[in-house]
Amino acid sequence: MEILDGKKISNDIKDEITVVVSKMKEHGEKVPHLAAVLVGTDGASLTYVGSKVRSCKKIGFESTLIHLSEETTEEELLKQVDALNTNPDIDGYIVQLPLPKHIDEQKVLMAVDPDKDVDGFHPTNFGKMALDMESFIPATPFGIMELLRRYDVETEGMHTVVIGRSHIVGRPISILMSQKGKAANSTVTITHSRTKDLASITRNADIIVSALGVPDFLKADMVKDGVVIIDVGITRVPDESREKGYYITGDVDFKDVSKKASHITPVPGGVGPMTIAMLLKNTLIARARHTA
Ligand code: GUN
Repeated sequence: MEILDGKKISNDIKDEITVVVSKMKEHGEKVPHLAAVLVGTDGASLTYVGSKVRSCKKIGFESTLIHLSEETTEEELLKQVDALNTNPDIDGYIVQLPLPKHIDEQKVLMAVDPDKDVDGFHPTNFGKMALDMESFIPATPFGIMELLRRYDVETEGMHTVVIGRSHIVGRPISILMSQKGKAANSTVTITHSRTKDLASITRNADIIVSALGVPDFLKADMVKDGVVIIDVGITRVPDESREKGYYITGDVDFKDVSKKASHITPVPGGVGPMTIAMLLKNTLIARARHTA
């Protein structure tokens, strides 16, 4: 059994980007600048955005955090988005999700300039991705593909079962895994909360990508021997005995499922760090496109 070490691979990717940024600096070029918009004080979002900004500093990117109050109106947020679209200093930016209930998420994502949409959430980028055209690929699915590629996991002709149909993970990863090209060419089944007899489907999977957000959902009796497990679930479970008052766990019952798996991502330290690395990669790509 091999652990797919997202922490290690994400550090490799960040090191590679650091080298490129150092060269940019040497040549007196502008370095990539990533901005993040955070509305409200959701604990997990604060952690993710903080981590993204810290990673930028570490690899030599410029970064800007725009932290708006929970009471920010949709109009105010759209104004902020417009300002980022027209600011030539910003190469790419993200609007951290989820947004407060009173803001129409779709409307905000539609307002992001597709050329700065390093999250790959704008319909233009999503459509281009689905049509095999050059685009920004959402960071989590991009990270999963990169992890599979760097560990040489065979995907060609394999049956990949995706659990979850979210716009951020399930839907895009189902598209990427079925596409032509390296680390793809797989046969994909996408499953969700209305799927009947899910276990009969997951038992037939060569690769399982679980993006459900239910701790310990995937049990050993739901998978076959030699399965490749990609656990995208990140759930905070309250636990007063821990310093932070919670611990992080995935969708997969790691202890038992890892006994049957050929490859498995841990949580934490699997897909999570890859997401940040690929967001940085997308920002580097955005910078290069703006220079070209
Ligand atoms: N919320 C959870 N994952 C993500 C992500 O990848 N990007 C943004 N913007 N928000 C998220």
